[in-house]
Amino acid sequence: MSRETLGPWDSRRHFLHAMGGLGAGALAFGLFGPTSRAEATCAPPGNPTNPVPWKRDCRPIRQRRPASTLTAAEVTKLKAAYKAMRDLSTSDPNDPRGFDHQANIHCWNCGGSVQVHGSWQFFAWHRAYLFFHERILGKLVGDMDLRLPYWDWDHAGHRQLPPPYVTPNDATNPLWNSTRHMTPAATVPEEDVGADVMDAAMTAATFTDFGGSATSGGIPEGTPHGAVHVDVGGDMGAFNSAARDPIFYAHHSNVDKIWSDWVRYDSSHDNPTAAAFLNLTFTFFDENKKWRSIKASQVLDHESKLRYIYGGAQVPAPERLFCFERWRVVRVPKWRAAKSLELPPDAATAMRAAAAKGLIRLHLERPEVPLTKSAVYRVYADAKDAEADAGPTSPGYLGTIPVVLNDQENRHRPKPPRVVLNVSRRLSKLAEKPGAVGLFYVERGLKPEQRKVAPLHAADAFFSVAELAGD
Ligand code: C2O
Repeated sequence: MSRETLGPWDSRRHFLHAMGGLGAGALAFGLFGPTSRAEATCAPPGNPTNPVPWKRDCRPIRQRRPASTLTAAEVTKLKAAYKAMRDLSTSDPNDPRGFDHQANIHCWNCGGSVQVHGSWQFFAWHRAYLFFHERILGKLVGDMDLRLPYWDWDHAGHRQLPPPYVTPNDATNPLWNSTRHMTPAATVPEEDVGADVMDAAMTAATFTDFGGSATSGGIPEGTPHGAVHVDVGGDMGAFNSAARDPIFYAHHSNVDKIWSDWVRYDSSHDNPTAAAFLNLTFTFFDENKKWRSIKASQVLDHESKLRYIYGGAQVPAPERLFCFERWRVVRVPKWRAAKSLELPPDAATAMRAAAAKGLIRLHLERPEVPLTKSAVYRVYADAKDAEADAGPTSPGYLGTIPVVLNDQENRHRPKPPRVVLNVSRRLSKLAEKPGAVGLFYVERGLKPEQRKVAPLHAADAFFSVAELAGD
């Protein structure tokens, strides 16, 4: 059995990946040519240049709270702010603070020439985006104490669309969107946002695992983040349209909270210190229509610099979060040739022991799932179980792979997400079957006659097992 720690192995891979891929920007540009017309309509109004560096926020520190726990007065204010933002798009289509322009910011940044998804830009860029968006909302209702709410879908009781966004569930509600596939009564599935996926995110040992590197995305960017986009569907189901749905900002506020929690929950969790990360520079219009630049280094401390904290009913830290030394890689020797998970017996024993502590993950590098529609694919260790597609209660179930298109027409093919499945509680099939276990995937939510089960191929597959620290 060959064992190595994740750190150096991972960075070497990312380096090789970057060399092979020429960098995402260059590749996209080569394939699709310069900015397409549809993309150009998302451009910031007035071709702004020479951004004024953003300096400091002088608002009082206030809480962002769960959207379903806002007071009636807070809901009224939030709706008034989005109404004002929507009205601005009509009364002055060139005002960059109008709702359409706010939504276009996201569209502009998820195309061929600019792409903030699938790398370490993801968390920092979205935090900056929400920050300026929040200040604009506050300015429009004359209350700079206003803070965005967050949709805490990781909280078991808050998995429906939060009431303010669906009450009333029609065009008279500025927080409503007509394209959602998710109904007000529906809930985000546990498998997309429950303990298994939250644990996998919160126990990411390095920022590279949690938030990505210059060339690859981190664990939670796929699940839960991408999965919830697919679950809401409609505009939310593709990145170029997602921010036209006001729920986008509450969804991303929770994604931002997950970053905040990851940093707080373990004393070894640190943000990157590389200059290449700290100097990432993003541009936005502020609440006074001033074109601003802000650096990643300026958004790392959201409390002192951006003047908000996360409050309200906190989801308890995952019970399995305790001190551990490192994630140790357990290779699957035959994967390359046979594409099956065959574990050496000593590895199987070690993994059974680790599974009891709830710290074992299956990594799938560049899994080959269709990148032609926004969908959630389920991974099973058994073809029959995949055929039946019973989900998390099935003995062969291992987890999900969400795919979110950049745009509905799929002009800019998405990258497959980083897939790290928390299989701590799902090893029975693998451990009990001697010999090779294959991996299969099936699109979730199809009728039995529509289901197509296929073997899952991936550039690499391996396990990582947590080693506990002495003290
Ligand atoms: Cu920029 Cu949730 O996507």
